[in-house]
Amino acid sequence: MKKQVQSSQRSESWTVLRLIRWTTKYLTEKGVKKARLDAEVLLADLLGLTRVDLYLNYDRPLIPSELAAFKERVRRRAVFEPVAYITGHKEFYSLDLKVTPEVLIPRPETELLVEEALKIAQKRLTETEDSEMEPFRVVDLGTGSGAIAITLACHLQQAVIWALDISKSALNVARSNAEQHDLNARINFMQGDLLDPLKDQIDCFDLIAANLPYVPWSAFDGMDPDVKDFEPRLALDGGEDGLDLIKKAIAQAAPLLKSKGALLLEIWPTQVSRIREAGEAFGYGQVNVCKDLAGHYRLAILMKNNPGG
Ligand SMILES: C[S@@+](CC[C@H](N)C(=O)[O-])C[C@H]1O[C@@H](n2cnc3c(N)ncnc32)[C@H](O)[C@@H]1O
Repeated sequence: MKKQVQSSQRSESWTVLRLIRWTTKYLTEKGVKKARLDAEVLLADLLGLTRVDLYLNYDRPLIPSELAAFKERVRRRAVFEPVAYITGHKEFYSLDLKVTPEVLIPRPETELLVEEALKIAQKRLTETEDSEMEPFRVVDLGTGSGAIAITLACHLQQAVIWALDISKSALNVARSNAEQHDLNARINFMQGDLLDPLKDQIDCFDLIAANLPYVPWSAFDGMDPDVKDFEPRLALDGGEDGLDLIKKAIAQAAPLLKSKGALLLEIWPTQVSRIREAGEAFGYGQVNVCKDLAGHYRLAILMKNNPGG
């Protein structure tokens, strides 16, 4: 009798629910933090379903090829490879973006930068007389997957965008995302160090948005292995205090911005006072900061001229 039970358990098929439960337990034992969520996302993506669909298909058995492919995904996640590199894509501001290990995985925090950029743009565009209307010129500095450039192009029909990165392979991913969303006609991709490719375009830009590497060295040890062992160091490392590139960008952006232009910088929460100092030193009229949903300072907005002054 005991033998019969064992063999019937062995032949029990791997249904969606059984796999989710097994994978959640396995990934939890390996130290993966959101194991259930990851199990569901990896399985739903593999089967071409949404996570809600999974709940409606709990009893669906997997065929052997699906099972083998899922096993490989779980093996990769168990050594902390990020889910988005395994599935090859990530949602950002409701847009689906391709991601590869050559680019940073777009973060929800960066949606704050996009929201504030859109608010500034919409205010500027409503203030501008139709007769004065010219393209709204935006730079996405350190474009990576193209997340910021593509989202802004999507939501600002009047915008022409320059998407810059030092990494050629990141720019290839960004280009492919722009094509996917049919936006390459309005996005110019340029490779180079910071704003060097645009250095002659004085007083030209309405917005410069930059999510540059800003992680200070002291923070690397405390980072999750998903980030520090898999995402490109080039996208994260901002030097000893995290400000190496940001300070240069503050200096370079000032002459390139129009008089009502703004520089938006994603930042590490402890960098606020040094960013204010740099803003003052390079003649910006006002520096505002915003907190992310976790209550950390995450965004600095440097207005070229003081809007109240
Ligand atoms: C934090 S990632 C941001 C990626 C993307 N904008 C996002 O928000 O998801 C920073 C990006 O800056 C790029 N980068 C690093 N150093 C740079 C430099 N000196 N000039 C231009 N881009 C640089 C990296 O290649 C990386 O793609």
